[in-house]
Amino acid sequence: MKPGILQIAPMMEHVEIALNNAYTVFRYWEATDKDALISASAATIRGVATSGHHGCPEALMDKLPNLEIIASYGVGYDAIDVAACKAAGVHVTNTPDVLNDAVAEITLGLMIALCRRIPQADHYTRSGRWLDANYPLTSELTGAKVGILGLGRIGKEIARRCQVFKMQVVYHGRNEQPYEPYQYYATLVGMAKDVNWLVVIAPGSAETTGIVSRQVMEALGPDGNLVNMARGSLVDETALVELLQSGRLGGAALDVFAQEPRVPEALFALDNVVLSPHQGSATNKTRTAMGDLVIRNLAAHFAGNPLPTPVA
Ligand code: 8YV
Repeated sequence: MKPGILQIAPMMEHVEIALNNAYTVFRYWEATDKDALISASAATIRGVATSGHHGCPEALMDKLPNLEIIASYGVGYDAIDVAACKAAGVHVTNTPDVLNDAVAEITLGLMIALCRRIPQADHYTRSGRWLDANYPLTSELTGAKVGILGLGRIGKEIARRCQVFKMQVVYHGRNEQPYEPYQYYATLVGMAKDVNWLVVIAPGSAETTGIVSRQVMEALGPDGNLVNMARGSLVDETALVELLQSGRLGGAALDVFAQEPRVPEALFALDNVVLSPHQGSATNKTRTAMGDLVIRNLAAHFAGNPLPTPVA
């Protein structure tokens, strides 16, 4: 009998084909009566395939007594209670590394879009306003100082790209990394005071919730820009909106939000923000590689082989 897999959210076609070939797949997001789906299939479900941001709520996990593995299609696993999984002997896998370049690439894209006002200039050109006057002058990345919150695998790729753009790179994180060539700041506020750009790429967790506080954003100041590529939970979104509206924070490029896919409407009216619908890893190439890892992790588990990319 094929093992049962609970698929929480839609995935790329090649992933769904592979899952359907190897497993009996229960499509959770499509079920109108989710409780009925779970009561009918719980006993046979040995794996969950989910996305980084859907994760697997603990209440759902509790209803799956024979669960052995949660394979997540994303690098962040803040939506999965890894400690509870460990305690219950449930393996968790994610998709690290294969998305580093894509996320780093769009980070720089959003930074350039923000300081050169690319979306606004595009709108200006399309609406024929160039005929009346040149677009106002903008600012640039060259020579600016960027602080990276979270110099992990993706953070390092962002740092390299910032250097190519002739920016000065510094960082803050839980630990100093003495072999990295960038200056370390022991406090986030201290770093925010000193930089023109703050790029947030630390994992979502209880420890990082609200870490980009009002105080941090005030320290970044009217000439500073915030870039959030991590999770909405890291930033005090109410303070962010207020500070952007009042000009006490210069600008923001945001790929993630506290209540995705809902975005605070107040942001839509602001010229000093660039908004992106959680696009960090969203390219065909990268999502294909992420999907391959989901398939490989599940296959390894059910074959009794070591997991390629385990979290726990
Ligand atoms: C993915 C993410 O975008 O990789 C991550 O941590 O940000 C994820 O939310 C998502 O899992 C793709 O569906």
